[in-house]
Amino acid sequence: MGRFGLPFLIDIGIDGFLLKADALKLHEMTRRSSGNILELGTHKGLSTSIMAKALNARGSGQLETVDIDADANAVARTNVAAREGAERVTFTLKDATLRLDELIAEGHRFGFVFVDHWHGYQATHEAASRMASVLEPGGFVFFHDYLGAGNADPGHVYGVYQAVLDTICEDERFAFYGNFGCCGLYRYLP
Ligand SMILES: C[S@@+](CC[C@H](N)C(=O)[O-])C[C@H]1O[C@@H](n2cnc3c(N)ncnc32)[C@H](O)[C@@H]1O
Repeated sequence: MGRFGLPFLIDIGIDGFLLKADALKLHEMTRRSSGNILELGTHKGLSTSIMAKALNARGSGQLETVDIDADANAVARTNVAAREGAERVTFTLKDATLRLDELIAEGHRFGFVFVDHWHGYQATHEAASRMASVLEPGGFVFFHDYLGAGNADPGHVYGVYQAVLDTICEDERFAFYGNFGCCGLYRYLP
């Protein structure tokens, strides 16, 4: 049975909402990608722990995970510390856009980026429009709640799908690699 008794949610003992299909693809992309990994939106470490485990299986690479919620971050650190791959994880408490701009200024690049912070249009637009500057050539970006029903409702706070349409989908260096769970996967091919 899945989280909250819902068979489609993963339950590995950490609070959060990930479809089993999201979690499986996160693990696969982390395990199969090259280089380091960036996550925007740690919450209590559910996706972080899955990617840390995959990095551990890969035997290389580091994961930086970014969030602005100090209380949730403390829980995430405890959750991840008890699991495989914990030594590969760095927690950053900062706004995602600010951290992206720092990483870009410092010349960091990532093989895989999981975008799962604020799902509004502006925050997603800010992240998506920076992906060409933080992804390695051939790297992948995975947007959570890309297929969330809220995206279709103009009155809803979600704007993931529209923000990706207005950024990455306008950039011929990105190719669509499919939908997995409620996520959208794109590859940077400059
Ligand atoms: C949907 S949750 C992340 C879920 C997590 N990936 C998981 O698997 O459980 C979104 C998180 O993004 C964080 N967040 C919201 N706005 C943010 C921002 N501007 N910068 C960084 N993190 C942000 C929230 O504090 C929250 O913990």
